[in-house]
Amino acid sequence: MASKTDKRSATYNQLESGTERSRPILHQNAREIQPYGKIAKLPIALDEKVCAASAENLNQVLADTITLRDLYKKHHWQVAGHTFYQLHLLFDKHHNEQDELVDTIAERIQSLGAISLAMAADIAETSIIPRPPRGREEVPAQISRLLEAHEILLKEARTMARQAAEAGDDGTNDVLVSDVIRTNELQVWFLAEHLVDVPAVRADQAKAASSGG
Ligand SMILES: [Fe+2]
Repeated sequence: MASKTDKRSATYNQLESGTERSRPILHQNAREIQPYGKIAKLPIALDEKVCAASAENLNQVLADTITLRDLYKKHHWQVAGHTFYQLHLLFDKHHNEQDELVDTIAERIQSLGAISLAMAADIAETSIIPRPPRGREEVPAQISRLLEAHEILLKEARTMARQAAEAGDDGTNDVLVSDVIRTNELQVWFLAEHLVDVPAVRADQAKAASSGG
């Protein structure tokens, strides 16, 4: 018959082996399972070449969308002047909408069996949106910079939407038209109205009289 001491040591041994099994295995390295730029074909009834071409286009739109998203956050933090509060909120709203686009675009790329860009260094190398200064800009310059970034994105998204439609990749065409193009066009409207030079308090009656007379 086992003594009390034996029973305790058996329990201790079981605990020790249990701990061993639950210990995390750290510092593991392995080769990538899929290199960037290669397609891991999925059964979506689309030719591999079509998937590769769409993914390459979408990664460009992704890099530019991430850059525009971050530009909105920069301006959200750095905005100054009497319209501070409304622009602080508007820039953050647009940032969040662009962030949703980022996820939609990236997951479309993955759905094509491709790899989406993700990290800041890769985004910086890929984006064609001009790099802003680190410092603070005046509101009209901030808004102009955002509008130019939107237009770069809209131009490439329209071209790529047509290419996707011609190749039969309706899903990519839909993401580009329904999500990217429509969101960017709406945000352009909200921004551009801030650069219309109208009186804030007193209507310009002199001009009204001369043009009406
Ligand atoms: Fe904030």
